[in-house]
Amino acid sequence: ANIKAYETLTNHGTALDAIELGINETELDPTIRTVGYGGYTDHRGEVTLDACIMDHLGNAGSVVYLKDIKKPISVARKIMENSQHVMLAGNGAQEFALKHGFKKENILHAQSKADWTSWIQNKPKLKNLINEDNHDTITMLTLDSNGNLAGGSSTSGLRYKLHGRVGDSPIIGSGIFVDNSIGAAGATGQGEEIMKTVGSFLIVEL
Ligand code: GLY
Repeated sequence: ANIKAYETLTNHGTALDAIELGINETELDPTIRTVGYGGYTDHRGEVTLDACIMDHLGNAGSVVYLKDIKKPISVARKIMENSQHVMLAGNGAQEFALKHGFKKENILHAQSKADWTSWIQNKPKLKNLINEDNHDTITMLTLDSNGNLAGGSSTSGLRYKLHGRVGDSPIIGSGIFVDNSIGAAGATGQGEEIMKTVGSFLIVEL
């Protein structure tokens, strides 16, 4: 993700382009188990994705509980640039994505399905601990040669989360925050804790 973002910036891409293209790399990589395709499932065995993006002007886009679409950060950018809204969720988010040229694809990787099946069978013995194997998210902040900042975040959320659970990553101010006159911050980790403080906003503004 960093290599792609860096290449984008050095080829005169904007901070926002670097965010989108950098994060896409991670979203499409099935070996990264907490973001995009190949992400861990929720407790029902479904992969649901959250992402958000913010530019140097304070524009923002966000997608929540997105299913069967492989590039949630790109959908978030589309919402920011091609709708009057900031956040779209669930079926509405998917409908918007399909209308804007995204394809419906299976984002449940065979490994994610196998892991979920094994978790269901062994559930009583396992705790859903936050640790190196059950963590995390990509959050990225960029600064381009025009002095403009951008930020983005994308995640499949907490492994075996309750169906419908949403973390900090798609919440502007929690998952990321950009204030071009000050700086930018982004969060990874347990979304429930980050949301309670609107952590990224608080860091930038303090
Ligand atoms: N930080 C990602 C999440 O909690 O979903």
